[in-house]
Amino acid sequence: MSLTPPANKIWWNEPVEKAEILWVTLALIWALIMFFMMPVWHVYGKQNVSNEAYRIQPDAYAKKVEAMVAKYTVRQEKGNNQPVVHPPAGSDVYLLARLWEWYPILELENGKSYRLHLSSLDWQHGFSLQPANINLQVHPGIEMVVTVTPNAAGEYGIICNEFCGIGHHTMLGKLYVTK
Ligand code: CUA
Repeated sequence: MSLTPPANKIWWNEPVEKAEILWVTLALIWALIMFFMMPVWHVYGKQNVSNEAYRIQPDAYAKKVEAMVAKYTVRQEKGNNQPVVHPPAGSDVYLLARLWEWYPILELENGKSYRLHLSSLDWQHGFSLQPANINLQVHPGIEMVVTVTPNAAGEYGIICNEFCGIGHHTMLGKLYVTK
């Protein structure tokens, strides 16, 4: 009973059950395997988005996005005011997150590699590309760069998967991949 004090208060002098030692040993070995798998998987797993990150002021980032939008907008998206931007294959492309939208709509070419820049102008957002299921954190003040190579043409959705306030659920973006 936990209500009464144990007869022998010096619990660490009590012999430990064999089964308990066995389980603790197994748990420790498994924990160590999991621990060392983290660096091993980072190098050999081929599923990590290798990334670069830089410090940047939100307005400086917004300027870079606007420069790309001004240069490479090909049309307006039907039904909303977002520009659809088709930058040259292999170039640096910029996407920004803000309350509560992804801007602009990028149109990339299948099989070409791009350096995709991501940052937020206000709060923390979560970049979730569907249905490819690529998930990245998007922070204000940090410009992250990931190399992406689309491998299937189509229309992709970008949802925000980091709660960012009252409009979080409406923060939906789009990305086109042409053939
Ligand atoms: Cu942005 Cu949730």
